[in-house]
Amino acid sequence: MAILKILHYGDERLRQKCREVSKVSKKIKTLAQDMIDTMYVNNGVGLAAPQVGEDLRMFVIDVSTDDEPLNPIVFINPKIIKKSGAIKSNEGCLSFPKAYVDVRRYKNIMIKALDLKGRPFVLEAKDGELLARAIQHEYDHLDGILFIDHSRNMFEAIEVLKNNNLPELERERLIDEPELEDEILKQESENKE
Ligand code: NI
Repeated sequence: MAILKILHYGDERLRQKCREVSKVSKKIKTLAQDMIDTMYVNNGVGLAAPQVGEDLRMFVIDVSTDDEPLNPIVFINPKIIKKSGAIKSNEGCLSFPKAYVDVRRYKNIMIKALDLKGRPFVLEAKDGELLARAIQHEYDHLDGILFIDHSRNMFEAIEVLKNNNLPELERERLIDEPELEDEILKQESENKE
């Protein structure tokens, strides 16, 4: 077991597009286990390989609560194959200590990936639950996309980064998501009625 160093926002390695894992080798299995241990030590629900400086398409997630048994899931070479709905959620990231902002996510997703034995599996996460959001968050990391790029409110993101002594928001990286935003606004106005 090894606890790995987590890169923080501002490190360019968090912005790289990662490469596919060519073989689920012993080295990959060790890395996955070290990532799981590192995630637990830092009280995270997910961790992607680029966050520990590994340029590989893999991440780990565990959304179990304190009174449930541990349930780490390893995703290797994942692909999101279906997405629908929209939800606003308050997110953080182990690469952004103490910084949380509201982001837009799909509510339902389906993902396929390889497990630690190199076997393909498909997983569906619905209703905007934590698993669905965590998968989208970690998946983004593999393409160098960070949760603040999905910020609903640019000014909030600027302020949060500043208050936590993190580098400035890279405004040019903000992702325009009109379909998600329209759906969220629709839900919010329905809730008010
Ligand atoms: Ni993250």
